[in-house]
Amino acid sequence: MKITVVGGGNVGATAAQRLAEKELANEVVLVDVVDGLPQGKGLDMYESAPVEGFDTKLIGTNSYDVTAGSDIIVITAGLPRKPGMTRDDLLNTNAAILRSVTEQAVPKSPNAIIIVVSNPLDVMVYVALKVSGFDRHRVIGMAGVLDTARFRSFIAMELNVSVEDVTAFVLGGHGDSMVPLPRYTSVAGIPLTDLLPADKIDALVKRTRNGGIEIVNYLKTGSAYYAPSAAAVQMVESIVKDKKRILPCAVYLEGEYGMSGTVVGVPVKLGKNGCEQIIEIKLTPDEQAALKASADDVKANIVKLAL
Ligand code: NAI
Ligand code: 2OP
Repeated sequence: MKITVVGGGNVGATAAQRLAEKELANEVVLVDVVDGLPQGKGLDMYESAPVEGFDTKLIGTNSYDVTAGSDIIVITAGLPRKPGMTRDDLLNTNAAILRSVTEQAVPKSPNAIIIVVSNPLDVMVYVALKVSGFDRHRVIGMAGVLDTARFRSFIAMELNVSVEDVTAFVLGGHGDSMVPLPRYTSVAGIPLTDLLPADKIDALVKRTRNGGIEIVNYLKTGSAYYAPSAAAVQMVESIVKDKKRILPCAVYLEGEYGMSGTVVGVPVKLGKNGCEQIIEIKLTPDEQAALKASADDVKANIVKLAL
């Protein structure tokens, strides 16, 4: 198993470290455009191997030659948000970066599964899909796992229970129109709606929607990376170990949920072939309308790119 992480910044480097520490690959290659940055971080991480006790090789490089034959490519290259910026403000700059990365990485690893992390996430999945020419089951975006993890954390904090017992779903695009689903959220099997009043749940939903900007406002010079890298690595793990976990992921829809030609977060079965199934859960008319509105927002941005 060989995994390439493109973008050696906060999310990419932390993801590479997590991948190595979990020994999810024999080799992790970290690529960045900045000379010396991936080399330095890769070597530094590998020097932690004797202490942490992992045998994954870590290589930092500016060249895609070293990435040849990768099974999975995680793309984190791009600019993060600064205070006052929306994810959509990153659209044109990051689309150009995604195009360039995909054009260089794909010929070297034509059988890879691509996991996109760069923002605005759903549109960047579309860019990687179109530029790679891959089938849609091999181009998957990370956002729902992160948004769900945030929702689960806030619920665990509110109820003072273990996060492990909280299961939840956040669907939709990775933006202000994301769709947390309290109806599909439970604590040790007990519906959330039995445990908290509606106004409390609404407040947790709101905090989840603003989860990204809450961290940006604290950091001021960048965005979240510990939880995002953990979320991307959970997706990789499900693919590498063929676990077939059901995780909310951003995928291109071809009729599912009554929508086509757009990318949005929906429950997906992740296994060795990538997105092996899109699970269509029953939604109320309101939830369906919220998912559609979110997918339409993404579509409007896709159109702006004129790919
Ligand atoms: P960062 O600024 O720390 O790292 C980005 C890295 O990309 C830099 O090292 C930069 O040199 C590199 N880069 C730029 N152009 C490149 C190119 N053409 N080829 C290779 N590398 C290139 O940013 P951070 O915090 O790591 O975030 C990365 C991206 O992930 C941002 O777009 C951010 O908004 C997004 N993000 C998405 C999340 C999600 O839930 N989908 C969560 C967190 C971040
Ligand atoms: C986040 O949600 C910035 O999309 C990133 O933290």
